[in-house]
Amino acid sequence: MQTGPDLGPILGPVLGIETSCDETAAAVLDTDGVVLAEAVLSQEAEHAPFGGVVPEIAARAHLATLPAMVQLVMRRAGLQFSDLGGVAASAGPGLIGGLIVGSGVAKGIALAQGIPYVAVNHLEAHALTARLPGLVPGGAPFPYLLLLVSGGHCQCVAVEGVGRHVRLGGTVDDAAGEAFDKIGKLLGLPWPGGPALERLARSGDPARHAFPRPMLGRAGCDFSFSGLKTAVAQVVARYPAGALPAQDAADIAASFQCAVAETLADRARHAMAMFSTKYPEGRLLVVAGGVAANATIRAALEDATRAQDFFLLAPPPRLCTDNAVMVAWTGIERLALGLYDKMDFAPRPRWPLDALAVAGGEAGGGAAPR
Ligand code: KG4
Ligand code: ZN
Repeated sequence: MQTGPDLGPILGPVLGIETSCDETAAAVLDTDGVVLAEAVLSQEAEHAPFGGVVPEIAARAHLATLPAMVQLVMRRAGLQFSDLGGVAASAGPGLIGGLIVGSGVAKGIALAQGIPYVAVNHLEAHALTARLPGLVPGGAPFPYLLLLVSGGHCQCVAVEGVGRHVRLGGTVDDAAGEAFDKIGKLLGLPWPGGPALERLARSGDPARHAFPRPMLGRAGCDFSFSGLKTAVAQVVARYPAGALPAQDAADIAASFQCAVAETLADRARHAMAMFSTKYPEGRLLVVAGGVAANATIRAALEDATRAQDFFLLAPPPRLCTDNAVMVAWTGIERLALGLYDKMDFAPRPRWPLDALAVAGGEAGGGAAPR
């Protein structure tokens, strides 16, 4: 976090850019958080033949599509670059090639227009989505609990404020989405495995296989998915290659999904208890990341929150998965506090949330603000 000379009120709409993984996205929000225009382009088709995100392909695709996408959202918003009050881009954690592309475009616009540039922590952007006007009347008040479950991340975080996050627990091996993707691959489903596995599970019996619920009941709120993955792989290995009957595949998918849902609900219950001890006034659990789109998981979390007198906020799936609205909004939250970054801010492939408060101890903003 960096602070600079007080900029006073934000002078115009904020452009947000997201390029940390395999979604290229741009959005423009007015200073109240109203979305003026947004666009997201998934690179799923480019990566699918390889069964996962290929960093080099991702970086090239961001480079090929981002400039035109930025122009498109500006045109749709009816704005010139000179109308902007700031530019925010995901600067980590993520794949370095994409982060360099997004940060470079953002810095170029900020320099040319003499407006502040905000290096956004992608995880903080997921965390602050809950405060977008319109989701919770008046915006979610701090503090709240975040369960982030995506292809790259699986963690519980107490969100105390902008730049103030306390990690309560996280995965010791795979992320939840990664587990879905790997089991999807085992079952011969297209990548990414999550949505396809959820569809397959609809016709399966979740009680057919008693797969392990990793860490169930364990103190704290860490996660682990490797034992579950191994257990599923052992069942799949009982069938000759390529000869898994459709109903058996559906039963495996449903049983696996059920194990993940119960595990996440159990870990969330522990996280809520930990959170309540430290922040008795906070009663909101926010779930974000691609896995939050899963209906069985949402239902399990809904039950867990109700039982603990919490409220569950699951933003619409398009705001749960990677997007630029959350990046622009984080830019607005930071700019409103006078927080922006220097032009020499280097993108960070690794950038834990709880390092945010001390990440850029050096004070002083980058772009010459208007
Ligand atoms: O947040 P996201 O779009 O990208 C990042 O990883 O940052 O999440 C993608 C992940 C993938 O692993 C995908 O398989 C998983 O979210 N996912 C799902 C579902 N939709 C996406 N997992 C389970 N059920 C779903 N419906
Ligand atoms: Zn993400």
